[in-house]
Amino acid sequence: MIIKLEPINDNNRDAVLALSVREDQPFVATNDYSLREAAEANAKAPGTARPFAICAGEKIVGFCMLALDPEDKNPIDRYCLWRFMIDKTEQGKGYGQAALQEIIRYFKENGVDTVYLSTAPANARGLHVYHKAGFRETGVIEDDEAVLRLWLEKKKKKRTEQISLARRQREGASANQGEKRLRCEHCDRKRR
Ligand SMILES: CC(C)(COP(=O)(O)OP(=O)(O)OC[C@H]1O[C@@H](n2cnc3c(N)ncnc32)[C@H](O)[C@@H]1OP(=O)(O)O)[C@@H](O)C(=O)NCCC(=O)NCCS
Repeated sequence: MIIKLEPINDNNRDAVLALSVREDQPFVATNDYSLREAAEANAKAPGTARPFAICAGEKIVGFCMLALDPEDKNPIDRYCLWRFMIDKTEQGKGYGQAALQEIIRYFKENGVDTVYLSTAPANARGLHVYHKAGFRETGVIEDDEAVLRLWLEKKKKKRTEQISLARRQREGASANQGEKRLRCEHCDRKRR
């Protein structure tokens, strides 16, 4: 599934404003309100609010807004998923989870190592999606919302470990062809 985050511009703004969630999902502000908040934040500190259309191919299916504000006094607000929604007609199709992966990738690419978000404890679907992506409760409750955190640094390290494991396996495979004895010694040592 190809999901892209497209910065809000004159071509996608109206479509984003037309998106909404179900009435029984009072967990997110309207996109109109979020875009006004983004404009306010960026007027004070440019680039701190980053609103995006979530696109599945040519179709705009959702909206998200990220905060990247290293100067924010509250560590929870420095790097956070500020708003996130998939239109009511497009939910349950995997777009939310795919978009969350893109969001995480965006934070990583911007050198962020810890991402926060908060949501109502009653938001079972949201929590399911966040837990699945690796977010965990911090125990902090702010404005009646549970604060969740994702460590990206650990993931990066894990990935580095995976890469070096893959490299070792490759090296092992080539050693297996040319220098079988050496590899066996290595395995024996591991087993001891
Ligand atoms: C939360 C939201 C962004 C998820 O997007 P989505 O496109 O619906 O999510 P997906 O289709 O990718 O995945 C939905 C997952 O939730 C699960 N799910 C659906 N309803 C659920 C419920 N009531 N309780 C627990 N899990 C539920 C689905 O089974 C699926 O998980 P699976 O793939 O492991 O089976 C979207 O539903 C939404 O916009 N909700 C309203 C606004 C909101 O809550 N935003 C977050 C504010 S912090």
